[in-house]
Amino acid sequence: MNVPLQYGISGRSASEVATSVERGILEGRIPPGAPLPTVRALAAALRLSAATVAAAYRTLRVRGLVAGEGRRGTRVVLRPPLVVRRPPVAPSGARDLAEGNPDPALLPDLRPALRRLCGRPGLYGAVDPLPELRGLAARHLSADGIPAGALAIVGGAMDGIERVLQAHLRPGDRVVVEDPGYAGVLDLLGAMGLVAEPVAIDDFGVRPDALAAALSPETGAVVLTPRAQNPTGAAFDEARARALRAILDRHPDVLVIEDDHAGPVAGAPAYTVVHARKRRWAIVRSVCKSLGPDLRLAVLAGDATTVARVEGRRSLGTGWVSHLLQAVVASLWSDAAIERRLREAADVYTRRRRALVDALARHGIAAHARSGLNVWVPVREEAATIAAMAAAGWAIRAGEPYRLQSPPAVRITTSTLAVEDAPKVASALAQVLDPARVRTPAA
Ligand SMILES: Cc1ncc(COP(=O)(O)O)c(C=O)c1O
Repeated sequence: MNVPLQYGISGRSASEVATSVERGILEGRIPPGAPLPTVRALAAALRLSAATVAAAYRTLRVRGLVAGEGRRGTRVVLRPPLVVRRPPVAPSGARDLAEGNPDPALLPDLRPALRRLCGRPGLYGAVDPLPELRGLAARHLSADGIPAGALAIVGGAMDGIERVLQAHLRPGDRVVVEDPGYAGVLDLLGAMGLVAEPVAIDDFGVRPDALAAALSPETGAVVLTPRAQNPTGAAFDEARARALRAILDRHPDVLVIEDDHAGPVAGAPAYTVVHARKRRWAIVRSVCKSLGPDLRLAVLAGDATTVARVEGRRSLGTGWVSHLLQAVVASLWSDAAIERRLREAADVYTRRRRALVDALARHGIAAHARSGLNVWVPVREEAATIAAMAAAGWAIRAGEPYRLQSPPAVRITTSTLAVEDAPKVASALAQVLDPARVRTPAA
């Protein structure tokens, strides 16, 4: 197979070759995950020096479009930071348990909060964060034992994570991540030229032995999900938070980031590993699962230097998160009825999660879902399972984008799955995983 020709890679300089590969990815000729030709093969095909092709690959690597090198070969990353990736659309007629969204029926109606806005246009130079929101955020964090001395408002959990990583790390730095872990974080690391170091997790989050073994003088940062871990639903308990804290305390130079993306609807209490950390820490607490993804807002708490770097860098760009959004969130957080609604939403998500885990258990299928919006089910074959479930009318997601070294599994989002429908999903999955299995579940 003539790979360069098949992919249409061309160019007479490193920059032209890199641009040609980038265009190939953009136009779909070079698919995500595809191996690129070796430096030597491409150099020969294009009649260029190996140094020129190596320079082109280096450029692509720095842009996060390709990964790997040397004997393992260079590949296009699975989710290049180039195209707008649409999550796979549920096949027509199939019920969507793949998307990962909160249940729209459990999100608050924004109209009363919007009506309460004062309507005066904001100006440059306004105090940021909005003092009312800052006060509420500080109260929430302090109630959970999180220092709230330095706070910023950012555009969601991912915006906060990216800005904190950028404030401390450089391309090539190593970041310890949960495996399985949130695909968005894995993609972000690739796009920033950072190197993911997978660490095994269980239902209580990162395993202390695995974390201790993974940390080294080369570790730049650790990203942890304290609750509603995506995809497995893992959540810290007090003992796990304490054990992880003891390990991280021995590594004061490592940046520790906690991604509390689901906050009050996670269905598990807030435990943290950072409360006594003096420097290099940040927690992002997003409102996107509890108040709605389109609010694009998260509270970022951290040590004074980290928060100052994030705010200082941002002041050269977008400046701040719109005070209209900040005022809407402050208004929602000041409403006792909304507070009650969030507690109810957390209970509903918990019931829906447990209904599916219990129904699967009655078929002898083990699943993970201690908190959050998803159920994680280990399987032997992801693609075949997804396809067979789609044919049975249920769109679920392959685990592959969430995994580095951990074994195959599928993710089933239960945020909108009524308790009475859980047995139907469980029996469809039982049938798919083992068609010879008895059809009626054990009592
Ligand atoms: C673990 C995790 N972190 C972050 C996010 C994204 O949060 P945000 O929309 O606030 O950026 C998600 C979304 O599902 C998530 O599961």
